[in-house]
Amino acid sequence: MRPAARDVARLPAHVAIIMDGNGRWARAKGLPRTEGHRRGVQTLRDIVRHAGEVGVRYLTLYSFSSENWSRPLEEVQTLMLLLKVFVRRDLAELVSSNVQVRVIGERSDLPADILGLLEEAETRTAGNDGLTLVVAFNYGARNEIARAMRSIATDIAAGRLSADSVTEATIGERLDTAGIPDPDLIIRTSGEQRLSNFLLWQAAYAEFYFSPVLWPDFSADHFDDALEAFYARDRRFGGLKVGAEV
Ligand code: IPE
Ligand code: IPE
Ligand code: MG
Repeated sequence: MRPAARDVARLPAHVAIIMDGNGRWARAKGLPRTEGHRRGVQTLRDIVRHAGEVGVRYLTLYSFSSENWSRPLEEVQTLMLLLKVFVRRDLAELVSSNVQVRVIGERSDLPADILGLLEEAETRTAGNDGLTLVVAFNYGARNEIARAMRSIATDIAAGRLSADSVTEATIGERLDTAGIPDPDLIIRTSGEQRLSNFLLWQAAYAEFYFSPVLWPDFSADHFDDALEAFYARDRRFGGLKVGAEV
């Protein structure tokens, strides 16, 4: 780990990553897209371990979007299979390395075996208090916000909540990320510069870092590059930089 990347005082508490470029990585090597996803899981393992070592408190990984169902069936099936293999193979290590798993995304339309494994990962790591690994699976921010709105509307209709008392906090508490601080740093690999329906509410004051590196090639060193870029940012949250009042 590069010492410059380990600036404990300024370390982002929450880093979120849009892991993109698996398909292009495979195509460039003349391999099937599914091979890119397989290699992407290895990167994921390395980055989870590294983020924990650096001391990041929350790491969110965009693993499967609500729009990714529109891909060819074989690719969707591979992505589902890789998630299952990951939980089966890696859960014991996550438990022993004090990682707590949280899953965000729409659960109601997931296959029963996938849902069971995700819930098992959450249950078996619930007592851990090291890195919180937030897995965004079947996640779409608009879907998440719509579900939060539905729950608020239901409570208002039932008389449990008054419309006047709805605040930003009321909405935040009903998102899948309830209790998780907003991301400080959002990294997207593969050169694309868009959010693709990721954490729209939570990203209000996130810093963005776009890396040209395709996800299967993204390394701990690249992660440290993103941390160093983050340290150089001047976060103002709408206010003034300290010392700039005059
Ligand atoms: C990211 O890689 C993985 C998922 C979206 C599941 P892609 O599969 O989007 O790779 P590209 O963007 O086609 O290269
Ligand atoms: C976003 O990547 C979703 C994940 C990384 C899981 P996509 O590859 O699906 O996004 P678009 O289609 O390029 O916007
Ligand atoms: Mg992509």
